[in-house]
Amino acid sequence: MKGARIPITEGESARRRLLEEGALDSRFRIYERDGYLYFPLAKEVDGIESGDYLFEEREQRESFEECLNRILPPHLAGTFHTFDSIGDIAVFDCQEELFPYEREIAEAFLRTQKHFKTVLVKTGGLEGDFRTRPYRYLAGEDRTTTVHKEHGLSFALDLSKVFFSPRLATERRRVAALVSPGETVVDMFCGIGPFSLCICAHAQPGKVYAIDLNPDAIAYLQLNIEKNGASECVIPLCGDARECIQELESPDRIIMNLPLYAHEFLEDAIAASKPGTIIHYYTVVEEGKEEEQRTFIQEKARMRGKEAQIHGMRHVKPYSPYTHMTVYDIRIA
Ligand SMILES: C[S@@+](CC[C@H](N)C(=O)[O-])C[C@H]1O[C@@H](n2cnc3c(N)ncnc32)[C@H](O)[C@@H]1O
Repeated sequence: MKGARIPITEGESARRRLLEEGALDSRFRIYERDGYLYFPLAKEVDGIESGDYLFEEREQRESFEECLNRILPPHLAGTFHTFDSIGDIAVFDCQEELFPYEREIAEAFLRTQKHFKTVLVKTGGLEGDFRTRPYRYLAGEDRTTTVHKEHGLSFALDLSKVFFSPRLATERRRVAALVSPGETVVDMFCGIGPFSLCICAHAQPGKVYAIDLNPDAIAYLQLNIEKNGASECVIPLCGDARECIQELESPDRIIMNLPLYAHEFLEDAIAASKPGTIIHYYTVVEEGKEEEQRTFIQEKARMRGKEAQIHGMRHVKPYSPYTHMTVYDIRIA
């Protein structure tokens, strides 16, 4: 093929000129031999002599989008779009039509996205008391354990044993920013501790009591407390939040991140509150039914002879079509 043979001493200026002219053929490698550099040419350039030389082809790297276009039949183009990034594990959320192609997509994903080592696919929704979900292994290292980094913190976890969602990162920072120095916080459904640890790292609470029913979540929480130097701040408690919270001092703040079932625990949280306690109550709300939830919360407080002032409401993320995971920030009076 056509190339230019340039003395090494003039190599850099020739390379720049060829680049400016768009004349360097990037599909082939530049090489050096006997004091000369050989440049593969896409076209002739005035003032640079060309000749016929052999060039080695570069390895052509397809982008992930290019791989998808090659793997998927035209009627499925654009149907693969969501995955969660948890440490070095990518969790695919594939529709059924993509099942026959998912392994090939996963292999292409790992080839092109070097940060990831494993690809799993969700095979069901969150289930049971521990809110874990089933996954199927697709490609890379066959494991469900990883270390996820968020806001300067490291969370070790095993997806097959504990709940974890990277999509709540912004919400954790929001809550941490509201915590005043010296506060006592109860994280009623702490999982592996992302809310508790974020509060300890980004605020100056007195104590954070972190409760979970799942012994594996508490074991990972203990590990994460050590990893993040939070042993003076977080107190892990394994058990039913409804019982544990009654044994603790009345907190300044309560986090209730168990969206589908938090309503069953709201009265207990209110009972444990003192005037001024803030409750971050996460629940699932149907579009247009936000006011009904307000009434429900206020009614629960009245039943305990207290008042619930709702300071804010925010849709955190979509839960299903027409429903949202929503947080109500409640002040007990
Ligand atoms: C949706 S996850 C939230 C975990 C954590 N807050 C996070 O953001 O990763 C809910 C957690 O509540 C725990 N859980 C469920 N029922 C519980 C109960 N009665 N008492 C304490 N924890 C409970 C589950 O084991 C699970 O780890």
